[in-house]
Amino acid sequence: MSICWLNGEFLPLEDAKIHVLDRGFIFGDSIYEVIPVYGGKLFRLEEHLQRLINNLAAVKIDPKLNVQELRGLLEALVEHNGSGDLSVYVQVSRGVAARDHAFPELCLATIFAMANPLVGCSEKTLSEGASAITLDDIRWRYCHIKTTSLLANILLRQQALEEDATEAILIRDGLVTEGAASNLFLVVDTVLLTPPKSTFLLPGITRDLILELATKQNIAYKECDIEQSTLNSASEIWLSSSTKEIVPVTRLNGKQVGNGKPGNLWVQMNTHFQNYKDKVRQGLIN
Ligand SMILES: Cc1ncc(COP(=O)(O)O)c(C=O)c1O
Repeated sequence: MSICWLNGEFLPLEDAKIHVLDRGFIFGDSIYEVIPVYGGKLFRLEEHLQRLINNLAAVKIDPKLNVQELRGLLEALVEHNGSGDLSVYVQVSRGVAARDHAFPELCLATIFAMANPLVGCSEKTLSEGASAITLDDIRWRYCHIKTTSLLANILLRQQALEEDATEAILIRDGLVTEGAASNLFLVVDTVLLTPPKSTFLLPGITRDLILELATKQNIAYKECDIEQSTLNSASEIWLSSSTKEIVPVTRLNGKQVGNGKPGNLWVQMNTHFQNYKDKVRQGLIN
């Protein structure tokens, strides 16, 4: 039975109850993070905590816990759940109040965190690649905020699944932004490309690590606007996220990408990424 954290105490997940007037439930008025755990080590924890703090500040939610307290509670949560390979989910809502759009004057943030077994990318996807379709980016204009108001993302992902694809790659005003739940990388003329950070995409922790590894390994990359025609002609397409890591896309809108197999640069980058992860697992780096 997994153990979660809710408003100051650890308890079995089945016993955790949220008030029906919680603004996270009523309005999606909350922020969340998903942090992978390898061998009991929270991966890129400081970066995830910083993004959580930034996002809470962006929507004016005061969690009434500082970074050290949040770090401590997540580390304790991992221990309570056996310290293996996990996916930690943490959500902070504005709290419980009578339903009204206006921020309540007195309201204590609800803080919930749980740990689930980590479900990464399947071996089949890693060897054959995934398929994706392009869809119009129907989301709002604050996509850099990791809010639980994810209805548009859910509809987009569901449409992709119903069209036998694993992810929707989103297009806003002719430019590629990201996936419905992932960031996007392309390889064009042996250079790695990714859209620059903006309010139209989530500043992914995995995205940052990929660029950090590219710098260390002298892999040429560019953060630049990407038109749909560039996406269509890319020799490689990758999607990145904390739980799925780096996923090669080998079919786009039913057509083969490159030679239809995970590309050479993906193989290289994935090796660097796995080496980095192993070092974190062994406690050699944070
Ligand atoms: C819309 C969106 N973009 C990008 C990402 C990847 O972010 P990260 O690497 O921090 O998991 C996610 C992750 O869930 C996401 O939902």
